Amino acid sequence: MLSWAPPTTPPTTTRVLGAALYYYFAMDQSVGSQVELIREAFHYQARFDGTTMVFKVDFPVTEEPGFPFLVKDLALLAGTGIRVLIVPGAKEWIDSVLGEYGIVSRYAGAVRVTTGAALPFVEMAAFHVATRFITGLAASRVDAVTGNFVRAQGLGVVDGEDMAHTGVVKKILVEPLRRVMESGMVPILPCIGWSSSGRPYNVPSDEIALAASAALGAVKLFIITAGNKLSAENYDIPESVQRDDTGRIVRLSIQEAGSILERNWKAPGGDKGLEAIGLALKAARTGVERVHLVNAREEGAVLRELFSNLGAGTMVYGDEYESVRPLTIDDVSDVLRLMEPLMKQGVLVRRGPEDIIEKKDDYAVFEIDGSIHAAGALHNWGEAQGEIAALATNPAYADMGLGRNLVRYFVDRAKKAGFRRVFVLTTVTHDWFELLGFRELPVESLPEKKRRLYDSGRKSKVFGLDL
Ligand SMILES: CC(C)(COP(=O)(O)OP(=O)(O)OC[C@H]1O[C@@H](n2cnc3c(N)ncnc32)[C@H](O)[C@@H]1OP(=O)(O)O)[C@@H](O)C(=O)NCCC(=O)NCCS
Repeated sequence: MLSWAPPTTPPTTTRVLGAALYYYFAMDQSVGSQVELIREAFHYQARFDGTTMVFKVDFPVTEEPGFPFLVKDLALLAGTGIRVLIVPGAKEWIDSVLGEYGIVSRYAGAVRVTTGAALPFVEMAAFHVATRFITGLAASRVDAVTGNFVRAQGLGVVDGEDMAHTGVVKKILVEPLRRVMESGMVPILPCIGWSSSGRPYNVPSDEIALAASAALGAVKLFIITAGNKLSAENYDIPESVQRDDTGRIVRLSIQEAGSILERNWKAPGGDKGLEAIGLALKAARTGVERVHLVNAREEGAVLRELFSNLGAGTMVYGDEYESVRPLTIDDVSDVLRLMEPLMKQGVLVRRGPEDIIEKKDDYAVFEIDGSIHAAGALHNWGEAQGEIAALATNPAYADMGLGRNLVRYFVDRAKKAGFRRVFVLTTVTHDWFELLGFRELPVESLPEKKRRLYDSGRKSKVFGLDL
């Protein structure tokens, strides 16, 4: 039996990867297929070097006999130059700790109501689970840290229920996390966040994983569960869905994932597999390119999912611009219908069909199932600056990442056009642009042509993003 452990300072990533692959895949294979597997893995490794991947690990994976192997695999990935961030779920463990101390766990829907009495035990349980990872990584000689990287705010009173110390993610502290990961350490984010004044809140780990993936621009989010195989045996799935000969669902588009959730609907807390698909769908819609659902009970599943074409789990993919496309003349009336209520409220500057047609090539639309649900434009004002304007999302599709995806699309377009900055003029949406990395700028920073047209009566703020 080969034994292998990642070195403290990784030498060439290829050497580490080669050794890992040999250990994990190749032992029972013919020489030909060993070589194929190693080729595949090197191909993927080159793509992933220096990228960030988030691993949301559900409880009770930490209690499974295969847990040390999973942690070893994560250590291995960290050693190959991938920036690994771990978000451990602790729900059932917290419930059992609270039970042990005679505190009844109360839920509002799927969300725990964390009372003042429960909070110290919730913290204890959350950090206990995080420590299991630290211990496992230490055994693989990989440094790990937990810390106050999650800014939270209280949920307050929801439907008459005081949610007390239950919070939501307000912000992920990206810079300190980046520094940690750049130095080769693995950050572990337990399900606790702190307000700016230092008040602790219990925050669902799903939310932390989502927010961290988005804030860090993760190329992948792994959702690792214990024993939840997504297969045609267990769920009603559409015909189009790709599965392998064991019935495993291999890949799901955003649309297919949505359709599975609809066909198999269960109340929150009713089915872990469906919850994982729900989380994957949300992540894919907010711009994570690939989400992988993996069963921790299959040894090496993370590595196989990552480094082989066949995979070992289920991949949910939301190709970034899958649904974003340039505007055509036929879209103009749909776009105006989207914008009309916002123009009426004064949120958007009034435009008529002729204005849109005149600048037709500047516009792009977000199409879902053949209908337009968001639109916007990128105007060139010279001086290598572009204005993102007329951004509007159908309220029925709010908070699904459509707006964010359009902004990313325009930022990409602006970069390709050689712009050095994109800016927006906004009266009510500056907080949202700030979340996307835009910063307030003086009106004087606008390109000359735009500055001359600036309507000082409207008092729009200027927010910009340097490219
Ligand atoms: C701003 C707008 C385009 C966002 O579209 P969207 O598709 O719902 O946005 P996303 O799904 O990408 O982002 C949603 C997130 O931003 C938050 N958000 C949405 N509007 C916000 C605002 N005005 N201020 C702060 N945050 C906002 C949501 O709460 C959500 O947060 P979450 O991460 O906790 O879920 C949409 O609300 C809209 O059409 N607004 C009116 C038009 C406008 O203001 N346009 C900009 C001027 S050009």
